[in-house]
Amino acid sequence: MSAHGYSAAIDFDPDATPNVRIVLVGFMGAGKTTLAERWADSGGPVLWFDSDRAVMRDLGSESVVNLFEEVGEARFREIERNVILARAGALARGVEVWSLGGGALLDPDVRAALTDACVVWLDAPVDVLWERVAGSDRPLARDYDSFRELHAARNELYERAATVRVDATRPHDELGLGRILADHLPPSWFGSGLAVGGGLIGRIDDLAALCTGPIALVSDRAVTHIADAVRVRLDLAGRTIMSDERLPMGEWNKQLTTVERMLEAWANAGLHRAGTVVAIGGGTLLDATGFAASIYQRGIAWVSVPTTLTSQVDAGIGGKTGVNLGVAKNVVGTVHMPRATLIDTTVLDDLPEEALRDGFVEAAKTGLLAGEWLLSRADEVAAASNGDRHARWLDLVEGCAGYKDAVVAEDPFDTDGIRAQLNLGHTLGHAIEAATGGAVSHGSAVAIGVHAALRLSELALDASPELAVRWRDLCTSMGIVTTSPLAWSELEPFFALDKKRDEHGIAWVLLGDVGDPITEQRLPLAAAQRVWEDHVHVAHECAVGEMLVASASPRHPRVLVLFGANLDQLGTRDPEHYGSQTLAELIRDVETWAAAEGLVADCRQTDSLERFLHALHEARRRHHAVIINPGAWTHHELAIHDALEPLAVPRVEIHLSAIEEREEWRHASVIRPVVDHVVTGQGSEGYRQALRWVRGQLR
Ligand code: DQA
Repeated sequence: MSAHGYSAAIDFDPDATPNVRIVLVGFMGAGKTTLAERWADSGGPVLWFDSDRAVMRDLGSESVVNLFEEVGEARFREIERNVILARAGALARGVEVWSLGGGALLDPDVRAALTDACVVWLDAPVDVLWERVAGSDRPLARDYDSFRELHAARNELYERAATVRVDATRPHDELGLGRILADHLPPSWFGSGLAVGGGLIGRIDDLAALCTGPIALVSDRAVTHIADAVRVRLDLAGRTIMSDERLPMGEWNKQLTTVERMLEAWANAGLHRAGTVVAIGGGTLLDATGFAASIYQRGIAWVSVPTTLTSQVDAGIGGKTGVNLGVAKNVVGTVHMPRATLIDTTVLDDLPEEALRDGFVEAAKTGLLAGEWLLSRADEVAAASNGDRHARWLDLVEGCAGYKDAVVAEDPFDTDGIRAQLNLGHTLGHAIEAATGGAVSHGSAVAIGVHAALRLSELALDASPELAVRWRDLCTSMGIVTTSPLAWSELEPFFALDKKRDEHGIAWVLLGDVGDPITEQRLPLAAAQRVWEDHVHVAHECAVGEMLVASASPRHPRVLVLFGANLDQLGTRDPEHYGSQTLAELIRDVETWAAAEGLVADCRQTDSLERFLHALHEARRRHHAVIINPGAWTHHELAIHDALEPLAVPRVEIHLSAIEEREEWRHASVIRPVVDHVVTGQGSEGYRQALRWVRGQLR
């Protein structure tokens, strides 16, 4: 078999990954905080960490001066040490500027934590410093003699730790920090400002420093608690929040209408190009918001805060943005690098098992690409007992994020065959998702796709069969299936749409060995078919241990579940009639109930009549049934009647409330003559009934 692949291996040593930390040290009055703040405010992808502020936050205090008096110096030093060591433990690719309290270097562990940092000593004669601080209320600057003594003692520490000494008597603009920064940037640094660690979201200084100008927040309604925390912290830092959009997100809402809504909110709030968009959520929210940011006023800065495992290890990193066009995924988009990506691994504690499993597949896939150092971290997650898993996850996420960031830095626009490696397993994975109408999740589909790609690597590259076996075992230990009951003929139609296909076949991503990805491997489809039939296809869904895990299932009937005007307001809108469940929660229930009935629910909501009608027109080709709640349009919008009329599939009209018992104008339904079944007044439970009825009809 011909092999013309392209080695996409990159030079990435996780241990050598430079954390570009510029640490400003020096005696009180040297100007560390002022300088760090200015630098961070200059608009670069700079994370700023100030130890005094971190201590204050920890203790809920307004000023360091009081603290010293309230808790005493010893306790202060202890907390100072803890916050610095915690910060040092977070991996950061990009630039961090730290300003440390004058006495922080007294602690040997703090000194040790700075070994890899560029320590900048802001030095000035004691008299200059005394002039700056005398008369202030600083506890250690009350009399000249002890100030002088302390200065001499501390200077020794600074001198020993310093990488560079600068003269702090000069005006800030002349200190040449730009130069210092340039000298210490690693060659592969692309400015993505990636930071990974536990509790990053709670560090106001980081986030506030990354956002220039006024801020527009966009978040997924599923993570309201995180958006609230961010908001409070930005407020406390005195930042102006011009708009705060909380959207029900999911693949179903990754549409141009959602982008339009963000753009309108920003324009109405008067957001200008000097501002920053902060996006908080999973892959779909980040994709749509990053895209909106890339086109708003021809591009505005944005900061990405991924809150799902999949987005933390993969989708949320690297600046690919976009939305779906109907069911065609990601066909509209741009590459718009976020100014920074803040990955806070503490959010993983709240994720359900299936979300972790899905993310695990992408993480383990990255392990195959990166090398044994990372794949072994995936092994450790799989092997760890539940209680012990959290720390293992942190290592895995850090490694994946760092590796993906480095790959993106090499080939940001996916034009050089390097970034393409991240698609390992995705050609088949996407076909499986499409063939099952999304019944098989992205992660489950990629697990099967990677398995096939490894078998294909045996065929084309003589790779060891051990690879596929190892992959299967790793997935199985996490409860993930790597085989599929789908017949090749069910997948084949979906390759026609593949972007990587030309007359020589599809460009596959294969693996010579762990850490040796090969891209642009053109192979005829027949080779993939052989592999599928010999190794991946199984007659039935298979069980893993006690658990029957949803694997690739034969085509399930797809039901369009359409929500009309104002239904995205569920949760806050008129709870007496509509309950307190949000639309996103309702959709999650609907998807689960549909799966239990052997159906796939394709849920959509729109306030645009045009899009609503369009979805109904498209349903003729794409769906086996329609469950429709047009909201207030029910009562007058004859265009919906006309769009439903020609549909030759079961049609259910549904309303959460009992419309016949409410205001008179709600009693009429103009679509009633063209539906086959009606459910009203059952709240969200009505959707379960509607799905059951549909199942009965399709049987
Ligand atoms: C609704 C009832 C409509 O009258 C109302 O305008 C809605 C929701 C329901 O689900 O109860 O928006 O369709």
